[in-house]
Amino acid sequence: MNLLITGGAGFIGANLVLHWLRNHPDDVVINFDAMTYAGNLENLQEVKTHQNYRFVLGDLRKPLEIEKAFTEHNVEAVIHLAAESHVDRSIHGPAEFIETNITGTFNLLETARKFWGAEMSAHRFLHVSTDEVYGSLGSEGKFSESTAYAPNSPYSASKAASDHLVRAWHHTYKMNVVTTNCSNNYGPFQFPEKLLPLLINNCLQNLPIPVYGDGKNIRDWLFVEDHCEALDRVFHQGVSGEVYNIGGANEWSNIDIVRFVCKELDRELGRSGDDSCEKLINFVTDRPGHDRRYAIDAEKIETALKWTPRYSFEQGLSKTIRWYLDHQDWVKNVTSGTYQDYYERQYG
Ligand code: NAD
Ligand code: TYD
Repeated sequence: MNLLITGGAGFIGANLVLHWLRNHPDDVVINFDAMTYAGNLENLQEVKTHQNYRFVLGDLRKPLEIEKAFTEHNVEAVIHLAAESHVDRSIHGPAEFIETNITGTFNLLETARKFWGAEMSAHRFLHVSTDEVYGSLGSEGKFSESTAYAPNSPYSASKAASDHLVRAWHHTYKMNVVTTNCSNNYGPFQFPEKLLPLLINNCLQNLPIPVYGDGKNIRDWLFVEDHCEALDRVFHQGVSGEVYNIGGANEWSNIDIVRFVCKELDRELGRSGDDSCEKLINFVTDRPGHDRRYAIDAEKIETALKWTPRYSFEQGLSKTIRWYLDHQDWVKNVTSGTYQDYYERQYG
């Protein structure tokens, strides 16, 4: 099978490309990525010379670039991850979120429809989305697949719009789609603007750790490899037109997770007392429209597809901390200068 993975140079995408080629080495994986600040080909060193790995520098905002990839690689299936993904960036500059997440998804769906034509049911399209489309929970309850959409940030609104487009292409054009809505991921290759890698990095650099508002907002954290395993399961066994929520049943308030990671890092780095990472915690002005709580009810995927996370939070976190400690150069590279400079230095 020739499988196009969009956003394969990003955090989850890179983990998925690696997962796919380890588990399905006979599939040809075409990584279609525009290489924004969030894309990094260094994440894919392990498969750079794999005979079934291809890289296409392409932008979802440009339909001709998608068509070229479909033609040249005879694309038979799609897993769509490429997106602008950071809520804070979406608050400061929503335009790119509309262009990539909504128009980009539309361009991809239309290209797939054009190429797959009458044989639509033979070609799977997996759309990777977020639990943030469901809005914010109070102290009780969880998001299920039937929870009404109520997105609150430009990011979640753009993802919600893309989910609706995918749904409509199934109902109207009979496209063979499955959609997943997953909780917050953590793990290797995550750009250090999201809470966990930012927190680890700031501790290592002795920089303040910004905790928004009262720190009591709650997120449901899942190790990225468990997400990849779930995507694999939904891609192969999910029922066309269905939605699957993915989550780790692992709710933490921000301040608790920050304190927990600080303790783990103190242990790793031999810090204590005034030198302790907790001393870096700095409560700052809240994010506008900050969703209070996310929590996923993952019963459907657990029952229907027999997926459950393999990693406990302690295991996933310890792997993640170890990875960032061992990859300080990676952090330096992705945070210094423009990625284009870095790309040219690395790849000419
Ligand atoms: P990321 O920001 O790390 O990576 C996004 C990738 O998409 C980058 O490689 C970037 O270069 C690429 N990209 C951006 N705009 C593009 C365009 N116009 N054309 C082609 N490529 C483009 O994102 P991530 O955290 O890996 O998230 C991947 C997907 O998973 C997103 O759709 C996101 O909404 C969803 N998701 C993320 C999380 C999470 O916790 N990170 C949770 C649930 C769902
Ligand atoms: P983030 O990793 O940006 O993911 P999302 O907003 O998609 O859930 O943020 C996770 C939580 O951590 C969220 O409640 C906002 C909070 N947060 C901070 O308190 N400080 C920070 O510096 C960041 C980046 C996030």
